[in-house]
Amino acid sequence: VVAAAGSRDLAGTRVIITAGGTREPIDPVRFIGNRSSGKQGVALAEAARDRGADVVLIGANLEVAPPVGVDFVPVSTVAELRDGVVSRSPDADIVVMAAAVSDYRPVTVATTKMKKDAEGDSFSIELTANPDILAELGQRQHPRPVLVGFAAETEADAGELIARGAGKAERKNADLIAVNRVDEGRGFGAADNEVTIVDRYGEVHARAAGSKREVADAILAAARGVRA
Ligand code: CTP
Ligand code: CA
Repeated sequence: VVAAAGSRDLAGTRVIITAGGTREPIDPVRFIGNRSSGKQGVALAEAARDRGADVVLIGANLEVAPPVGVDFVPVSTVAELRDGVVSRSPDADIVVMAAAVSDYRPVTVATTKMKKDAEGDSFSIELTANPDILAELGQRQHPRPVLVGFAAETEADAGELIARGAGKAERKNADLIAVNRVDEGRGFGAADNEVTIVDRYGEVHARAAGSKREVADAILAAARGVRA
């Protein structure tokens, strides 16, 4: 499933990749974040570039450097990520949502640093739901880009993993979901990854295990297959 070295099968194709993990501020020095390093999304951007695509990488708090030869848009919050993707998606052929997007954000953001004297022994932060970017892209009228999402799940059962991916593809009207199991040494932060690429019907388009670059090439090949 990995493209032959030097294959330029995405020449003339416009690809948007989101990568990394969003941060939702609580106060000027604190945020709600997640363990996404951005490595898989950066590998996707590199692989798309090498296959000849025009690539926009929208990166949220990347722990790795963005690749050369791609248009890099740094963002931090879900609102910034959404604006970056939604404003560019009408011109895209493929959008891959590899970023880990915070489902919630604080209702209010303190303008000065929160103090424990003021908060006491316990306190709560009220959260409100963020927009679902992938679902919003999926609701757009045709023509729309090929939409690929990710689902990082701690579920161990292979059949249940596929069912969850299919359910997310269905709910968000995405063409493909790359499901990966996350645990110690797998997924977040790790050098290697393992994904099953499914559609809303639960049909498996590809399985890939190996470096994040190998996984990236498998995902792009599957996305190209949808578009063809
Ligand atoms: N996603 C998104 N906007 C959000 C949340 C998720 O675009 N507000 C995208 C992610 O980038 C990913 C896909 O949707 O490509 C699936 O994300 P995931 O967190 O697995 O799915 P959720 O629908 O948020 O379900 P849950 O977290 O409850 O499993
Ligand atoms: Ca989520």
